Amino acid sequence: MKINLTGNSSNIIGQKFSFFTAESWLQEKDDFKEKLNGLFVAKKDETFILLEENSVHYLIGLGSKPQNFEVQACAEKFTYDFRKKIKATTTLLNSENFNSDQIESLVKGLYLGTYEYPFKGEHPVFHSDFSLQLNSVSEENLKQLEMKVVAICEGQFACMEWLNKPQNFKRVPHISEFLDEISEKYNLKKTVFDRKKSEDLGLGAFLSVNQGSSQEAAFTILEYQSNIENAKTIGLVGKCILFDTGGISIKGSENLHYMKSDMGGATAVIGTLIAAAEMKLPVNIIAILPITDNAISNTAYIPSDVITAYNRKTIEVLNTDAEGRMTLADGLSYLAKNYKTDVLIDLATLTGSSVRMFGYTCGAYFSNNDSLKKLLEQSGDETNQRLWNLPLWDIWKEDFTSDVADFKNISSKPFGDCIVAGKFLEQFIMDHPNWAHLDIAGVAFGNVRYMKEKGATGYGVQLLIDFLENF
Ligand code: BES
Ligand code: ZN
Ligand code: ZN
Repeated sequence: MKINLTGNSSNIIGQKFSFFTAESWLQEKDDFKEKLNGLFVAKKDETFILLEENSVHYLIGLGSKPQNFEVQACAEKFTYDFRKKIKATTTLLNSENFNSDQIESLVKGLYLGTYEYPFKGEHPVFHSDFSLQLNSVSEENLKQLEMKVVAICEGQFACMEWLNKPQNFKRVPHISEFLDEISEKYNLKKTVFDRKKSEDLGLGAFLSVNQGSSQEAAFTILEYQSNIENAKTIGLVGKCILFDTGGISIKGSENLHYMKSDMGGATAVIGTLIAAAEMKLPVNIIAILPITDNAISNTAYIPSDVITAYNRKTIEVLNTDAEGRMTLADGLSYLAKNYKTDVLIDLATLTGSSVRMFGYTCGAYFSNNDSLKKLLEQSGDETNQRLWNLPLWDIWKEDFTSDVADFKNISSKPFGDCIVAGKFLEQFIMDHPNWAHLDIAGVAFGNVRYMKEKGATGYGVQLLIDFLENF
């Protein structure tokens, strides 16, 4: 279903949603306010249900002076909590008290709160035609708003859906088929290098991870071309390890199932492509997803192996569990060498180190460009998909110099691995002057409302879309 928005019409209203900030509630003049007499004060996430003559009226509190992402979070929590109560009837969304950004946040939140995994039909209301009536917004602005909200939410839903899938539902043929579908739907150019082609091209670092896999390699390039002349081009690389066993440097079995989430960089990129294409954003996007799993097998790469990456640098493999930086190394250099991009960003569930540092609060990011840093942090703060900057000082390079190759794939020291990994990746960007690396291991997959265990958060889609809008 898609949420649909209408203006003032003669529909019979069966249901009303009224959101109030503490401030707007104080100023509310409607007669029900008197009757409530302190029963509702518009605290954050407070709800009160009024039965009116022909409709059920939900009052929802947003707290005092909420930021846009807080407005969105309240709306999201509301639809999720009331998913079994709200009805598929024409619903009035009282929007008079809000500016257009706040209205966008409300509608986005209402829609995002309908996500469930696996699909159980728990939101019957949202699986039929659900229409919200907003009397304060012009028809033209409504069209625009509906388009944008649906685009971003559909992008985020796709991101979450693929990250949540179990390993045996997201093997290479499944994800390739899905990428074929969206390429067709959004007119993206799709190119895939299988094992043979990757060998011919010299994508040795990517292939070292794939060589132990029973699945065909799929180094995938997706290109979205806007129809605007002189549009800027952004390069995106998403870590796409379909499952990370650790390889021969095998992981422990506790929580191993969560390593189905090691494609969180890729799903953020896929969601962003979908949203950008739906919104017809005036930018070009070149996205690279080096798709493989990191398997344990008798053909897997082995600690001590020395491999040659796409940029001809050699890497000594000392830990097969540091596989993300191998696949990203070739993703980054292939993109930087073969495409002209104004900015290059990679996203990856790269290190446990970043999780230990920031937990679930923010991604760790690294960049060689100050204005890019500003833009990214601004988008992070705006969307509450936060980022915090860490250094790329040259001294960190010493930690991964190798005796037998240009680099080794892990540090000789037991600390700072997310910085080491970022510094490692910098060796493969072909001196691109405007690059950022986002380590999102802690934020892509975590505590979510719709699951008892961990689930996909959708991290990255709103962040990147906001970034692209400002870029
Ligand atoms: N996919 C993991 C990183 C990860 C950890 C993601 C926790 C999500 C949650 C990555 O491939 C990995 O295994 N990294 C190792 C690197 C180490 C061997 C240098 C790590 O962080 O332990
Ligand atoms: Zn790993
Ligand atoms: Zn990994």
